[in-house]
Amino acid sequence: MLVNGKHYRTIWLDESGTTVSIIDQTKLPYSFEFATLKTLNDACHAISSMQVRGAPLIGATAGYGFALACQVSSTDEALLAAKHQLIAARPTAVNLAWAANRLYDHVMPFDHDQRTAAAYACAAQICDEDVNVCESIGDYGLTLIENIAQSKPGPVNILTHCNAGWLATVDWGTALAPIYKAHQAGLDVHVWVDETRPRNQGAFLTAWELASHNIPHTVITDNAGGHLMQHKLVDLCLVGTDRTTATGDVCNKIGTYLKALAARANDVPFYVCLPSSTVDWEISDGLTEIPIEQRSGDEIRIMQGVTSSGQVAKIELFPEVSPVRNDAFDITPAELVSGLITERGIVEASREGLRELFPELALDVA
Ligand code: MRU
Repeated sequence: MLVNGKHYRTIWLDESGTTVSIIDQTKLPYSFEFATLKTLNDACHAISSMQVRGAPLIGATAGYGFALACQVSSTDEALLAAKHQLIAARPTAVNLAWAANRLYDHVMPFDHDQRTAAAYACAAQICDEDVNVCESIGDYGLTLIENIAQSKPGPVNILTHCNAGWLATVDWGTALAPIYKAHQAGLDVHVWVDETRPRNQGAFLTAWELASHNIPHTVITDNAGGHLMQHKLVDLCLVGTDRTTATGDVCNKIGTYLKALAARANDVPFYVCLPSSTVDWEISDGLTEIPIEQRSGDEIRIMQGVTSSGQVAKIELFPEVSPVRNDAFDITPAELVSGLITERGIVEASREGLRELFPELALDVA
């Protein structure tokens, strides 16, 4: 998508053909900066420190992280260790394991001297596929927005949580892709942006993305969504996901579940946008089978912002004497999801729905 009128992806191979550049998301929205990944450790650090984040982009970064590891050593032992190190970088987004396993399985049959080239090619392919898949999610999601636009006067008001825009993917985004498509098609859309405490991906990243594309939006507190829905100010909820079970349970940024409950209570359609690489085909119960990442309490206790003199500063919101619990994700049960918007179409959030669209990926279950 565009930044100051110039097209960017979130991750790309440098001209050297070996190092990799990323947009450093920890610097947004005040500074648009890049970081260079030269080693497997750099890639793992970028993932765990959230310089890159969002399930699809984490997967793409894992792909290039594996290629960077191959450069140093492409022995069987080294590559197995690299795969495990990548998978351990963050626990919840399944695209991480999906990409690390895909690289490993692709590269291992090659002779040692060909493994590095094979890994870079596979990582590049993951990135290109992600762009196409996300654009396709955008095209399918657009049909929902068009239908709402035809049924009412004024803007289509869409609520989104966290950042599932192009910054969370290689390009286009998942939940924001239909919004970009609608805006391009000239539809009148307005986005309610949940600030998304504690890391504020909504206020820092989604709002920045939408502002860069001149899409009308309003940042709201995480607690405001239900109230807005009661007052008929939300026509549609679109969110992303970090892992979705084969039965359609959705794991996404903490707070998503509360939005889904409010949406159900107020008859607001609640759709989840996802590439098939975000489905964990091996699990069927989100509540018991998805590990929820526990992040540092400092993310809740310490706030970062910019002072009136333009300095980036951190402040403590409350003293360390009070313990903090910081679950990064929650589970929205499939029955609260109106539908899944995927690269192959929109389906019911259920095993049958997912199997219908992805028969070659769904596992046989007795
Ligand atoms: O912890 P993050 O920022 O990596 O969280 C992931 C997300 O961006 C969201 O949960 C998103 O809605 C799903 S990823 C497209």
